[in-house]
This record gives sequence, structure tokens and C-alpha cells, in this order.
Amino acid sequence: MKKILVADALNPEAFEELQAISDLDVTLKTGMDEQELVRTIPDYNAVVVRSATKVTKNAIDAATNLELIVRAGIGLDNIDLEAAKDKGIQVANTPSATTYTVSEMAFGLMLSAVRNLGQANLSMKEHKWEKKLLKGSELFEKTLGIIGSGRIGLDVAKKALAFGMKVIAFDVVDIQTDLDVEQVSLDDLLTRANIISLHLPLSDSTRHMISSDEFAKMKEGVIIVNASRGGVVDETALLNSLESGKVRAASIDVYEKEPPVDFSLIDHPKVMASPHIGAAASEGQKRAGFEVVRILKENMSGR
Ligand code: MLT
Repeated sequence: MKKILVADALNPEAFEELQAISDLDVTLKTGMDEQELVRTIPDYNAVVVRSATKVTKNAIDAATNLELIVRAGIGLDNIDLEAAKDKGIQVANTPSATTYTVSEMAFGLMLSAVRNLGQANLSMKEHKWEKKLLKGSELFEKTLGIIGSGRIGLDVAKKALAFGMKVIAFDVVDIQTDLDVEQVSLDDLLTRANIISLHLPLSDSTRHMISSDEFAKMKEGVIIVNASRGGVVDETALLNSLESGKVRAASIDVYEKEPPVDFSLIDHPKVMASPHIGAAASEGQKRAGFEVVRILKENMSGR
């Protein structure tokens, strides 16, 4: 019987279905740090994680029976992919389960930024009535620059088109879509966009992809939305650009270090911040949970 370690909690209905698979021995053990995972992992044939558990090289080196790592979610930056590949361990994720979940979040962040909703909420809770101070702008007829045109990026594009926005996008591959999206170079996007929304995985090639040089090329008063990965944007460069006024506002769900230790960016009055909740909607988590069950059934169960 294959042994499955669920190291981060799954959607309860999906977890129940997983437990009901008679030839899988499923253990739920969450909140493990690296040392505990190193001690625990040798017993298991598959491990399921969301984003809290980091499947590091040390954990993978200790994994004597591991065949499969399943990420309930999209980003694989909490798994040492190189180490898994070297050991012939398969890695799977749920790439489409949370497309709408994250794209709706990005859109919410965008609307919050142009209409100052974060500041408005804080100011009302201080019993103030700051109508004049909180004047914003529309999305209609503005140019949205989407960096990264995977499922989420293109779903944001679709929503933006429905709002009457012009959509331009940058990707390193040819963008495959019937939508009215103009594929442009990164420089072109940076100079033309009123709002820039990031939809990139974090890797060695995307880390600090948006830094001082990129901010320098942007329009005055640009708005930044990031619901992808914190490390894609150089947070110091973003803070400097907010301070200089180059960036009018930033809505951020993701950080270079999570949970953050340095709050200087988050504390900036023009930043609206949320704690990496882009994929945290019940429908998306349910889809991701059942996709994990399907992957485990296909790969680990004889059924
Ligand atoms: C993902 O990559 O699926 C999302 O960012 C969700 C997460 O990491 O919590």
C-alpha cells in the first residue's frame, strides 16, 4: 500500500475522498519545519503540499521512497525542482484549478488601486470623511500591461477587455489567444501601460525582473498589481518608485519574504496589501483539492 503524506491541509471534501481510496494509506501532518519534514519524509511514497511546506533539497535527499510530490496550487517555487529531477521524483501541480480565483483577485487589486479602496477603508475606520483626498481614476480606456500570459494573465485580459481597457501583454513565448491582446516587447509594455499586472512564476530568470531600470521606463503615475510572486518585483525599487511618485499606487498580494519581516513597503500609504490570498477562495481550493486526488489516484493507486 502506497503511503501518502498530506503536509498542508487540503479542501475537506477532497481530503475525505482521498482517505476513502482503500489502497492508499493517507496521513495528515501539517506545520512541519524542514527538520521535521526530513525526519518524516522517508516513510512516504508521495507528499502533498500547498505553499506553507517547503520541499527543500535536504527533504528530498532524505526521501528514500518518494515517487511523487503534488502541489495543490500553481507555483512550484516551494519545491526544489532540480533536486527532485536529480532523484527522478515526479512533480505535479494543479495549473488550472485556481485560474479564476487568482484572476478575480488581481482584478480586485486593480480596482482597489485606481479607486483608493484600501485607503478609503482605513480612513472610514478612523471615522474620517475624505471624499476629496480619495478621488481615483477609471479603468475604462486605460492601457493594461500584462506581464506573463498564461491562464491567469489571459483571464485578467478578458476581464479588462470587458471593462473597455486596451490590453497589451509581454511573454517570452508567442501568446496564443483569440482575445484582442497586443503582444509587445517588455520595454514597449513598460513605456505604454497605465497599469501593470504581473502573472509570472518565480524562477532564476524572473527574480527581480521588475527593478529600478524597469521602473525608470514606466509612465509617471503607473499602477502596479502583483498577485503572482513577490520576488518577481524588487521591493526596494518599488518602494523608491512609490516615494518618488513614479508609481501612483501598488496593490500587492505577494512578497519577497512571506510572511514579511520588513513592513516598509506594506506601510507605504499608496500600497494596498493582502497576505497572499490570491488563490484562497473556497471554489478554487476545492478544484485544486479534487485535482490532487485525481493525480494521486492515477499515479499511486492501483484503482
Ligand atoms: C499558487 O501558486 O497556487 C498560489 O499562489 C497559491 C499559493 O501559493 O498559496
